[in-house]
Amino acid sequence: MLNITTQDVMFTGIQPTGLLTLGNYCGTMCNWKTIQKKYQCFFCIADLHALTTRNHDNYIKNSFSTSILDMVALYLSCGVNPNDSTIFVQSHVYTHSQLYWILSNFIYFGELSRMTQFKKKFLVDKKNINLSLFCYPVLMAADILLYRTDGVSVGLDQKQHIELVQKIAHRFNSKYGNIFVIPHILKESKKYKIMALQEPTKKMSKSDKNFNNTIFLLDNLDLIRAKLLRSLTDSDPVYYIKYDIYNKPGISNLLSILSVLTNKNISILECEFKNYRYYDFKKQLSEIVCDTISKIQKLYFKFRKDEDYLIHILKFGAKTALDISKKNLYNVLQVLDL
Ligand code: TYM
Repeated sequence: MLNITTQDVMFTGIQPTGLLTLGNYCGTMCNWKTIQKKYQCFFCIADLHALTTRNHDNYIKNSFSTSILDMVALYLSCGVNPNDSTIFVQSHVYTHSQLYWILSNFIYFGELSRMTQFKKKFLVDKKNINLSLFCYPVLMAADILLYRTDGVSVGLDQKQHIELVQKIAHRFNSKYGNIFVIPHILKESKKYKIMALQEPTKKMSKSDKNFNNTIFLLDNLDLIRAKLLRSLTDSDPVYYIKYDIYNKPGISNLLSILSVLTNKNISILECEFKNYRYYDFKKQLSEIVCDTISKIQKLYFKFRKDEDYLIHILKFGAKTALDISKKNLYNVLQVLDL
């Protein structure tokens, strides 16, 4: 039975748009086991967000529901304990879409059009722009504000969206009283954006067409080693391991990954690997990455076999999430006279 306490609330979510990556792990999942001890945690599978980029002409039936179960198993493998925390699917809890609509009245067109992530997708793939992609951060705001969230665990790429959530909450509160808690990015969140291995000036992403850019948490370990050894580094006349994202984006990206996985500061790693050749540095990094991922994979294959258990977790999670969010939504409806 889940213990509802007076602890601060933490909310986080990932879209079920394919297999999770080392970017997801380094950006947020690596913290989950420890933050769970300090906060009342909500781990959401953001399937409504994932609809924004679904290809409706080419949709493979059941691929969504399969990825959702894969994700629950991965959440558990990263240390989430369903007896302490709530794991649930966004679309199973209707309050999210209702608050989303209400909050869309507290944000302006111009503010949403300045979101970097939207602008990037808009410029790259002009054909596939729908309204939901534009409004994506408003649904994030609903997710977070519904649970009176104190801290959000996200990677650096989501910073702008969280600032927008704060703005919406402030705006609403200034008109209707202190209804929402103003959330912040958890201080435990990592400060790095993990970049594509072959193109280290762009983000590592699940949907990258070049598989060599991305390490998936369920990749075979030999493939992970090969991807890391092949990763693009910088063509300096002499080797030096230094964090410098403008002049040495490749090495800086690998240092970021190493820093997250070893919990060591970059400056310490720079000293430790000072005299290493890039190949030897990558070899050492690949052992550390494989060690982390192999532990996750062992647990994943164990959890993934028991679908009934995974479905049970989601049903229980949806009930808990609905009970809590309904109360908070009710307060919002009341002050709005709805
Ligand atoms: P998604 O699925 O794009 O990303 C999920 C989480 O992984 C982090 N992340 C990364 N961090 C560092 N480097 C990367 N290359 C990298 N790629 C992904 C993201 O920062 C994120 O923390 N919109 C959210 C999902 C969501 C959500 C929420 C998150 C929906 N509602 C409410 C927090 C609170 C997203 O980015 O999904």
